[in-house]
Amino acid sequence: MLKIGVLVSGGGTNLQAIIDGIKNGVIRNTEISFVISNNENAYALTRARNAGIAAECVSPSSFKSRADFENAFLDIVDAYNVDLIVLAGFLVIIPAEMIKKYRNRIINIHPSLIPSFCGTGFYGIKVHEKALERGVKISGATVHFVDEGTDTGPIILQKSVEVMQDDTPQTLQRRIMEQAEWKILPMAIDLYANGRIKIVDGKVFIGKE
Ligand code: GRF
Repeated sequence: MLKIGVLVSGGGTNLQAIIDGIKNGVIRNTEISFVISNNENAYALTRARNAGIAAECVSPSSFKSRADFENAFLDIVDAYNVDLIVLAGFLVIIPAEMIKKYRNRIINIHPSLIPSFCGTGFYGIKVHEKALERGVKISGATVHFVDEGTDTGPIILQKSVEVMQDDTPQTLQRRIMEQAEWKILPMAIDLYANGRIKIVDGKVFIGKE
């Protein structure tokens, strides 16, 4: 049984897709051990509690320094002893020590087809504003392993979504969530839980069922 921890900052629709995926069998051999948010008002925490999952807020603003937050954050995560950490719209930089300790055991969902519209400053609605500004005809979402860079780790899954001529950043964001994020994040967790993800020379290979 794969034990996962989910880090969130906002509405938690990706977290909900994971909760529902476990319930309806899309995600096999997996349980959510904790949900942690940096934002005590994140509706994602409510979703976790409604599903009976341990949910807590650990916010940098509660600590005297960034170093104090990072040390406490890592201790709290370590205590749950999970196999995989899932960033589902988590807006806090993951401490370097945590990335090292959980090498290739942290995955993130990004709302574009990396390497487009990613990196520092590309998060949330800004990603879709830039995509529309550039006039791309296709966008989508990416699940990738987290490394020391921003959105630079090995890509696990991607799913493309057509950009419509009358799209606003909001309509594009919603369609990418519905058609891409909520599908490939659960899929990536199921692949990981069932030993089908292999990394060779920084590239991900998906093994047979
Ligand atoms: C999603 O659009 C995700 O791609 C991005 O942050 C947003 C989180 O939304 N990383 P939610 O909290 O899962 O609803």
